[in-house]
Amino acid sequence: MTAKNPVISSDKIPEALYPVIESLCSVSIDIAKIIARGPLGQSLGHEVGENSDGDGQKALDVLTDEMFAEGLRTQDVRWYASEEQEEVVELNPKGSLALAIDPLDGSSNIDVNVSIGTIFSIYDAKPEANESFLRIANEQLAGGYVIYGPQVGLVVTFGAGTLQYVLDPDAGEFILVNDALTIPDNSNEFAINASNYRHWRKPVRAFIDDCVAGTDGPREENFNMRWVGSLVAEAHRILTRGGIFLYPSDARPGYEDGRLRMTYECAPIAFLIEQAGGKATDGSDPIMKHSVSKLHARTPLIFGSADKVDRVATYHDLPEQEVSALFGKRGLFRT
Ligand code: AHG
Ligand code: MN
Ligand code: MN
Repeated sequence: MTAKNPVISSDKIPEALYPVIESLCSVSIDIAKIIARGPLGQSLGHEVGENSDGDGQKALDVLTDEMFAEGLRTQDVRWYASEEQEEVVELNPKGSLALAIDPLDGSSNIDVNVSIGTIFSIYDAKPEANESFLRIANEQLAGGYVIYGPQVGLVVTFGAGTLQYVLDPDAGEFILVNDALTIPDNSNEFAINASNYRHWRKPVRAFIDDCVAGTDGPREENFNMRWVGSLVAEAHRILTRGGIFLYPSDARPGYEDGRLRMTYECAPIAFLIEQAGGKATDGSDPIMKHSVSKLHARTPLIFGSADKVDRVATYHDLPEQEVSALFGKRGLFRT
């Protein structure tokens, strides 16, 4: 009898985390198979209820959450915090780790055959459930995502650079394709849900106005826009070819801190981006220095190539009359 191939090589993975990463990979291979069958398999994209945040829950949100919780139950994970569950769940009372997960990111794209993902973050477990997660993002031991797209991929960091794997579907194994993913800084692409323009604060409007003005504006260069609606897909594009992503706070009720959740989405994405040489902020301050006081708390998220993220911060620092002025008149760019 031949030994079964591992689903991922242990080479670049800290020993203490390897079994958990292996479990995450195994479950995500099963999930990728379900997603690939789409309407040929079980119903995935229909609404089945609401989670504790009031977000609509799709069948695949619930199924993936159950699959990860089940797959990790026998691992070294004591605390399991899922975007889809109100409270932290205790999986293995003897476990030494705490795992936060957005089991299915980009739910609105399930039925339209567009890339979706799973985002995860690992901390060492504290004796109490919530305190294991309500801590500064730079205490993460690992942050990563699986992308279910034309290729299935894993992008993960353990604090020593960002690793990129691609699933070989025939072998059922994630293969390392880049052990030092680095964000290129020569892209002029921005990603934001522009339908919220009228709700944004002035610094965000001014930044986007100047991008849209292109060669006629103060930036004197043209920009391109992308918005997939799956954070994982936007992060993957930016890690691959650069650019900037913004989900800022806005004036809609419930969007005072943007839309994305710190524990399940912003912290792990920020960790990956910083380890790939980029930056991630709430507009001004680094996400990696943030903590939140509630498990499902949201935070504005701006990330991407370092120079572009820095530039957004300068718009937040501009005096009121500068962000109110018509483009072309901003003092920041007159020199
Ligand atoms: P989720 O499917 O886990 O709720 O996350 C969806 C998120 C994120 O993936 C995406 O960037 C954002 O919501 C899209 O928001 P809008 O629909 O407001 O554009
Ligand atoms: Mn999400
Ligand atoms: Mn989700």
